[in-house]
Amino acid sequence: MTRDTPHESARSHVRGRSEFVDDRPPLRGELLCGLVVSPHARARIVAVDGTGALAIPGVACVLTAADVHHNRWGPIIEDQPLLADGEVHYVGETVAIVAAASRDALVRGVRAVVVEYEALPAILSIDAAVAAASFIGVERTIARGDVEDALARSPRTLQGRLTIDGADHFYLENQAAIAYPCDGPQIEVHSSTQHPTETQHVVAHACGLGARDVVCVARRLGGAFGGKESQASPIAAYAALVTKATGRAARLVLSKDQDMIITGKRNPFQIGWRCGFDDDGMLRVVDAQLHSDGGAYADLSTAIMERALAHCDNAYFVPAMRVRGRVCRTNVHPHTAFRGFGGPKGVAMIESIIEAVADATGRDSLDVRRANCYRPGHDTTHYEQVVENNCLPELFERLEASCEYRARREEIRRANAQRPERARGLSLTAVKFGISFTTRFMNQANALVNVHADGSVQVSTGAVEMGQGVNTRIAALVAEELSIPQESVRVMPTSTEKNANTAPTAASVGTDVNGAAALDAARRIRARMSALAVRLNDLPREQWPSKCAGVGSAPEIEVAAPSADLSYCGIPFAKLAFECIRNRVSICEYGHFRTPGLSFNKLTGRGRAFRYFTQGVACSEVEVDTLTGEVKVRRVDLLMDIGQPINRALDLGQIYGGFVQGMGWVTTEHLVYDSGAKLLSHSPSTYKIPNIQDTPRRFRVDTIDNNGNTANLRGTKATGEPPLLLAISVWTAIRDAVQSVRSLGDGDGASAIVDLPIPATAERVLRALSPDAFWGVEHSGEVPSRHLGKKR
Ligand code: MTE
Ligand code: HPA
Ligand code: MOS
Repeated sequence: MTRDTPHESARSHVRGRSEFVDDRPPLRGELLCGLVVSPHARARIVAVDGTGALAIPGVACVLTAADVHHNRWGPIIEDQPLLADGEVHYVGETVAIVAAASRDALVRGVRAVVVEYEALPAILSIDAAVAAASFIGVERTIARGDVEDALARSPRTLQGRLTIDGADHFYLENQAAIAYPCDGPQIEVHSSTQHPTETQHVVAHACGLGARDVVCVARRLGGAFGGKESQASPIAAYAALVTKATGRAARLVLSKDQDMIITGKRNPFQIGWRCGFDDDGMLRVVDAQLHSDGGAYADLSTAIMERALAHCDNAYFVPAMRVRGRVCRTNVHPHTAFRGFGGPKGVAMIESIIEAVADATGRDSLDVRRANCYRPGHDTTHYEQVVENNCLPELFERLEASCEYRARREEIRRANAQRPERARGLSLTAVKFGISFTTRFMNQANALVNVHADGSVQVSTGAVEMGQGVNTRIAALVAEELSIPQESVRVMPTSTEKNANTAPTAASVGTDVNGAAALDAARRIRARMSALAVRLNDLPREQWPSKCAGVGSAPEIEVAAPSADLSYCGIPFAKLAFECIRNRVSICEYGHFRTPGLSFNKLTGRGRAFRYFTQGVACSEVEVDTLTGEVKVRRVDLLMDIGQPINRALDLGQIYGGFVQGMGWVTTEHLVYDSGAKLLSHSPSTYKIPNIQDTPRRFRVDTIDNNGNTANLRGTKATGEPPLLLAISVWTAIRDAVQSVRSLGDGDGASAIVDLPIPATAERVLRALSPDAFWGVEHSGEVPSRHLGKKR
């Protein structure tokens, strides 16, 4: 029905004509802003002196905590100062804002602000936080069954630990905002934010304004990936505080290095697990304790932990399961949302458990996966949501055949025996990603649809376009609903003036909820237009409103109920729109949508947390150079159920991009901090994201035909985050390569669980290959796994 039209901004992107925040031309008198940030992980602020900076010609103001009306913000818990007050709690925490008329004056001004600190002891690791009982929020548990009893009764058990590091979002457009003074106290802020409503509110609180006096606009983002769900808001507030203090427009745009040092990352996790299973590798029980590094403030970490706990099952039915999670408060940048939002950590854990169980039972890991997969009769998650419309068994079966898994497994076995220095590994993992915010009230959206007299349409929603194509999909949906060409529909810049009280564009539901709200509005417009069309159909042309409404020569046509017949009676859409206006029939509507059926109770850890699941499988083949630890991804075959896509090309873009982003997380993206918790890898030269040569040599993406997703609009399924989790197959494939080399040797290495943190950097791959060679070599934060072997 719909066409795979190009992304609405594709042409302007390649021509360099898409406007991002910092592309906006400067306003007369506009100021540039810079931040004075803490060099300490934790310190008392003894004094802040801006007089030197203010003496520099061009410097307009230096603002500190005392200049903030309400100096606390936070997306869940309001625990974070906008400007540090009394103490700093991480390297990069903002202490002062400097604004100046020129770049040169700004640089000098930032340097001239004197802050006196008294360094204090800091908590710099999850282990240290656990030891000091430094936590954020309460421990959360999701549990089913008697775990201790199930462990005691399991024929075999294993236990292990898993270290997962953070990752930087590495969006191309760094955090940016411009604040404009408007009438009276009003401020309009243009922000690179995923959450205009929260940005509006944080700006208002900071400046002591009502929400009525702040408008936040987000036209498009040069990538966000979760990094601008919460952390864009303080940046906008800094610019707005300068505008409030000076009455001038104020621009704050971070450099890549500043952005990486200041803003939070994907939460690092440390997971300890135990599992019980039988000799066939059937899982009986999983018991896990998850600790995440939340950084210095709560940000979204408790919600991220919740999603991690709800994804520890992934594609597998585990009869008894207990997963417990605690967020640690440490002295690093507050960690935040990142594509997958905790899900990837839970999934990495269970997928590595499966690999360990396969090694222990001598079964192929794919057989263990298929045996444990959710299936009829075994289709209820540990939080008691039924996995409806479950495609996982079919996905496994089809990919196994189409990627020639068995034949390649044999071929790899032979190749590794002949050439162990180029060890190949193969692994096929799955994803079952829950689609909905786990916090119920966030699952709502609103939309404004305006049909104009020429029949063209403007749609405004709370959705933020960050490259994922949400605007293009919404335009397609509205066009389809109104039976007009997609070119007739323009999705307008996101603005809190048109769409208020919105949720962030996140949790992959951007199109689901905003699209549904837009459809709600469009449907009602169509019903009214059709009702008039039916009446016009019976009238001679001379009596149509466009002919006689101007002089009032005929009575207005009474349109009672909106018609059930949604036809336009052959009247061209633009003509009918015009007749509606002349007949005083509104062709503008406001729509609202609330995701039905959600019943997850955070206190009991039970209920329907998600409207549906997006599922997929991927088989990755890697080659590990056992002398250097370098990894090449030779081939990836990926199969997903994305329902009935609105725009398949855009969804494929999400799948390819999400997978490659996930590959970076599990392989080369390594955040390195110095002993004082200052990030050292804060630029592309030291932080290695995947490039074109790292993408799989062979990369095949396919989708299955699934008409069954009746839970979502038009039978579609969200694709924003789920594909990232399939990159875990690259990590398990590396693990498989390491295991196969070890089992060629004769040491006891062969029987130990492969201890491979995420990311599996070249160095870590070498360590995993020969743990003995690194014996006694200091390596922070990595605890070797233990193999319990057969139960006595
Ligand atoms: N794709 C692009 N190009 N840029 C992005 O920043 N963010 C991802 C995903 N895909 C992102 C992206 C994340 S974290 C989410 S939650 C979804 O897009 C959000 O958009 P959606 O809900 O419209 O899918
Ligand atoms: N996903 C993304 N962002 C969120 C969520 C979620 O589940 N909950 C709160 N913010
Ligand atoms: Mo995406 S991490 O939910 O912004």
